[in-house]
Amino acid sequence: MARADPAGRDRRRTAVLISGRGSNLQVMIKACGCPGASASIALVLSNVPHARGLEYATAAGIAARVIDHRAFGDRRAFEEALDEALEASAIELVCLAGFMRVLTPLFVERWRDRLLNIHPSLLPAFAGLDTHRRALEAGVRLHGCTVHFVRSDLDAGPIVVQAAVPVRPGDTPESLAARVLEAEHRCYPLALELVASGQAQVMGERVVIEGASSPDAMLINPPDR
Ligand code: GRF
Repeated sequence: MARADPAGRDRRRTAVLISGRGSNLQVMIKACGCPGASASIALVLSNVPHARGLEYATAAGIAARVIDHRAFGDRRAFEEALDEALEASAIELVCLAGFMRVLTPLFVERWRDRLLNIHPSLLPAFAGLDTHRRALEAGVRLHGCTVHFVRSDLDAGPIVVQAAVPVRPGDTPESLAARVLEAEHRCYPLALELVASGQAQVMGERVVIEGASSPDAMLINPPDR
């Protein structure tokens, strides 16, 4: 039951799962509203009541629901409720965007290769929380973000898109987070388009992107003078 765009092409019905601010959701809604987009955001689910991101969904006329994890006895019951909502909306792809619940292997396997996440680091470096502070403490010169297919291991899975940003002298976790967030807002819509259009496919636990050209230039930090 994919929704057809004005040109009659089927678009992949996509759900975005959030817990808070929803800035990635916001850019995905915008990108999917463009003619020729391969995905349509058909459902937004939040495990947190009153999450700010819900307002973006409502403003865009997208079905939005709160499924509060605290209302369920265990993770399995919570995930069954998620699944029911996803099935009821005939969802084909699921994007985690600041969704702050760890999903069980059962859910992850059910949505295998149809479940994306964005993580604020260049994976496999800095899986887990507090990535910007840890990157500064480690003294890395490049940091960034990753959109990947979800696997049962935390912040692991085939990588679709990454972007690197420089770490600048004097950066704080907040200033670095803001720079990474700008990169996130370019990466997630791009990754969703690549997956929804079928250009990005998982092969042997790596993502192969059909017809992708990548920039040849090296990014060196600090830049050469
Ligand atoms: C982003 O930094 C994302 O990488 C991480 O959670 C944050 C969500 O931000 N997983 P937003 O809710 O999309 O604004």
